[in-house]
Amino acid sequence: MAGCRLTCFGLLLLVLLLVCSNFDGCEGRKGKHWSLKKPSYSSLARKKGRGKHGGGHSHGGGGGGHQSPAPSPKPSPPPKTGYTTKAAATFDVLDFGAKGDGVTDDTKAFQAAWAAACKVGGSTMVVPEEYEFLVGPISFSGPYCQPNIVFQLDGMIIAPTDARYWGSGLLWWIEFTKLRGITIQGSGVIEGRGSVWWTNGESDVDPINEELSKNLPQIKPTALRFYGSYNVTVTGITIQNSQQCHLKFDNCEAVQVFNMTIASPGSSLNTDGIHLQNSRDVMIHHTNMSCGDDCISIQTGCSNINIHRVDCGPGHGISIGGLGRDNTKACVSNITVRDVNMHNTMTGVRIKTWQGGSGSVQNIIFSNIGVSEVQTPIVIDQFYCDRSSCKNQTSAVTLSGIAYENIRGTYTVKPVHFACSDASPCSDISLTKIQLEPLQEHYHMYQPFCWQAFGELYTPTVPPIVCLQNGKPTSNHILSDRDLC
Ligand SMILES: *[C@@H]1O[C@H](CO)[C@@H](O)[C@H](O)[C@H]1NC(C)=O
Ligand SMILES: *[C@@H]1O[C@H](CO)[C@@H](O)[C@H](O)[C@H]1NC(C)=O
Ligand SMILES: *[C@@H]1O[C@H](CO)[C@@H](O)[C@H](O)[C@H]1NC(C)=O
Ligand SMILES: *[C@@H]1O[C@H](CO)[C@@H](O)[C@H](O)[C@H]1NC(C)=O
Ligand SMILES: *[C@@H]1O[C@H](CO)[C@@H](O)[C@H](O)[C@H]1NC(C)=O
Repeated sequence: MAGCRLTCFGLLLLVLLLVCSNFDGCEGRKGKHWSLKKPSYSSLARKKGRGKHGGGHSHGGGGGGHQSPAPSPKPSPPPKTGYTTKAAATFDVLDFGAKGDGVTDDTKAFQAAWAAACKVGGSTMVVPEEYEFLVGPISFSGPYCQPNIVFQLDGMIIAPTDARYWGSGLLWWIEFTKLRGITIQGSGVIEGRGSVWWTNGESDVDPINEELSKNLPQIKPTALRFYGSYNVTVTGITIQNSQQCHLKFDNCEAVQVFNMTIASPGSSLNTDGIHLQNSRDVMIHHTNMSCGDDCISIQTGCSNINIHRVDCGPGHGISIGGLGRDNTKACVSNITVRDVNMHNTMTGVRIKTWQGGSGSVQNIIFSNIGVSEVQTPIVIDQFYCDRSSCKNQTSAVTLSGIAYENIRGTYTVKPVHFACSDASPCSDISLTKIQLEPLQEHYHMYQPFCWQAFGELYTPTVPPIVCLQNGKPTSNHILSDRDLC
């Protein structure tokens, strides 16, 4: 400020403002308004500390305090008096010292670029194409950022494989938290270099991976995670070879994911494609996913989720759950999955709950699902257990209003598997135009299976699903407060 005053002393007020706009630290440039004096982002960030964002988890990023190289925003013409201009500021990581050589640690440059972009509403942080940026665990965090920031990803961001970056274990690599209006777009790639994390002591791994993976912590990070944000868009980019889950939304509202790709080998351990939790109003479409676990996994607290034109395989299919683990309450409603293709997946569309839970899953539609060489295309499993055995318990997350329509193609193990809870049977399952053929003739390993599954067949099915019980269950299950969602 002092330097600014000296150079500008005696000049017209307008000129002073124009020159000041090129100095970091000049106050008052909040979006389109010049007159507002609010506490600056960095002073708030310092006061608040950087520990608490994202539910206690922190990578020590967050922008505050990392301001070393801080060039001016590139084409940022000052607003003309009288009307507002649409030219938003852009902040290119190369201008903040990033090398993009795939070797140098560019984390600090990314933090500095974010700290600058965060202060300007509608700004764009640019990760340019044809560069490969090695970036360690990083948090692009609000809540003191201006709204509607665009993260323009055209280059590649690669994860460190060196154990030093991961400490005793982090739950995510790149996170965006507590933002209003955040868009990640472009043709770039987020490359998790996960193969060093997938080995799990198997003997047939390549020796370089084995050496690297020896020192990595047990906890594997999610590649890209959004937490507590409103109006989130992810489009165009590819996320590949994640250490664990590729893309996660937790406590988010109004989310759009489209025209993007998720790619990992079918053999990669626990690499879910997209994971949704406690999120609502989510739309996922025109997205191709291949991974080693669920293509999309919908967890507790989700409602109004719309998935269409998604291609999944290899992978484990699209799943709701596992819900109700450790006697927890789970609430999921209003999920529509339509116009989806699955190939070489373990299941097609699946709902899985643990014994002992409470809450409900309601109003679910699976429509127009094409399956090809899918082990079991239609699954409800209320006895989900990922260990060798789980304790038998009577309570369960209640399942009702599950519609399956126009599900056709080939399976390799069993066409339909409905295993519902004795204490709270599945009700209002509807089946319309189901046509599932074994991949090879005489390869009928299993017939359709039903246990405590009630509902209605609206058309004849192939194969005939005679085990579905007509009407409503005569349940002695009494809904308690514990079950209400
Ligand atoms: C949502 O985000 C987009 C893109 O950043 C923005 O144009 C739009 O105004 C936002 N909508 C709301 C309701 O905030
Ligand atoms: C989809 O993303 C690709 C890669 O970023 C881009 O080239 C293409 O224009 C996008 N298509 C649509 C319809 O948005
Ligand atoms: C998904 O795959 C299909 C078929 O290969 C392709 O036509 C489409 O462009 C892909 N979508 C994206 C978002 O890459
Ligand atoms: C689910 O959809 C119904 C009908 O559109 C709506 O009334 C209800 O509020 C929705 N549930 C949630 C949790 O948004
Ligand atoms: C749970 O119940 C099932 C079915 O009645 C039975 O086959 C199984 O052995 C029981 N498991 C345990 C751990 O008690």
